[in-house]
Amino acid sequence: MQKLIIKGKKKLSGTISISGSKNATLPILAATILAGNVTLTNVPLVKDIFTMLDLLKFIGIKIKINRLRRSIKLTGKKKNINTLAPYKLVKTMRAGVLVLGPLLTKYKKAKVSLPGGCAIGTRPVDLHLFALKKLGAKIKIKDGYIIAEAKEGLKGAKIKFPNISVGATENALLAAYGASGKTILSNCAIEPEILDLVSFMKKLGCKITIKGRRIALVKKKNEREKVNHSIIFDRIEAGTYLVAGALIGKKIIIKDIKPKILKCEVDILKKMGVKINLFKNSISISKSKRLNKINITTKPYPGFPTDLQGQLMVLMTQAKGLSKIKENIFENRFMHVPELKRMGAKIEIKNKIALISGPSKLTGAEVMATDLRASVSLVLAGLIADNRTIINRIYHLDRGYEFLEKKLKNCKAGVKRV
Ligand code: UD1
Repeated sequence: MQKLIIKGKKKLSGTISISGSKNATLPILAATILAGNVTLTNVPLVKDIFTMLDLLKFIGIKIKINRLRRSIKLTGKKKNINTLAPYKLVKTMRAGVLVLGPLLTKYKKAKVSLPGGCAIGTRPVDLHLFALKKLGAKIKIKDGYIIAEAKEGLKGAKIKFPNISVGATENALLAAYGASGKTILSNCAIEPEILDLVSFMKKLGCKITIKGRRIALVKKKNEREKVNHSIIFDRIEAGTYLVAGALIGKKIIIKDIKPKILKCEVDILKKMGVKINLFKNSISISKSKRLNKINITTKPYPGFPTDLQGQLMVLMTQAKGLSKIKENIFENRFMHVPELKRMGAKIEIKNKIALISGPSKLTGAEVMATDLRASVSLVLAGLIADNRTIINRIYHLDRGYEFLEKKLKNCKAGVKRV
């Protein structure tokens, strides 16, 4: 099994180009079920994307990947489509459940494996099913599968989500594409990745208006067969490298981004005293002499993302005083904490809250990655630790970070995969 070995304390300098967003690509790939010919560019070629492509191939979509250009051509079939998403293709990646909405709306039926729990929490799909039922789907759960049907087709409806969910909003948007009449979604998620899906669906011929804070109006206009789309940058990857720069950057430039989208993250880093400069499509960042403590709560966008919580926690270990993180999105997202403590961090967990005392000296250790974002926080800790840090189970990292070692090595980090 592959490991990452990090030799800590090497000052980082250089430029990092941010890849396309994995979390935007996944629902857009599911949306290609609705289209004829799609060309996507700026696609991050990471494991989760290949898993989704395997699922689309199984469904009957032809796929051509240009690795060099990071583009994918997808061609839909008119007939003999498979409306099944089997367990083996959904179990490793929950986003597989996003094919439910498009299959159901286009082919009036779908059988999709329940994704099950995952390391960071139980992660149910009740809100996805709630929205589809409102659109008129008949749904039953049998033998671990969601079996959905809409013999007469889906019908536009008013849907008010009881809680904000990224995936459920995406499934509802995708299902609303083929529904008759108008659909109004309220209390929906408005992550930049969802807005990227919305812009893709508009190119597909959908009229979508985002009103007020969390309302989307969806109405199909004219179906378009051919769509080209470039995926938005990965704000979580950008945030991760911003933290790396704040931890040990002589000067790092994070490019190919839109700094406006990172407002919450930038504001927090500034409050902590990090040296940061914003440009049109890039940010420069370097370590400051002293970091201030801070309290944050993870929230849906535009709040601070749960996917950056572990990374920011590493920065908090270097801030003077007691910092606090309240994890409000997932119930089990402090799995990086025992590993960080083994490296010398002083962190205490009280239910949803992590209390981080700093600054503390981190020392390299052999640690284990437990999920995608937890594993990258161990990489960040390794960058500032004394001696060597060995990270096991890095297949988690490969699910979502494109060219991680290459990008860090280009900035002079001591990172090696063995
Ligand atoms: C997406 C992101 C993930 C990110 C998360 C929150 C993708 C592929 N993944 O995951 O990286 O951490 O948003 O920003 O884009 N919930 C329910 N019932 C449901 C659905 C969700 O109770 O039917 C709960 C979840 O358990 C969680 C909360 O709602 O506590 C938010 O989850 P959700 O926004 O749906 O996350 P995902 O779409 O799974």
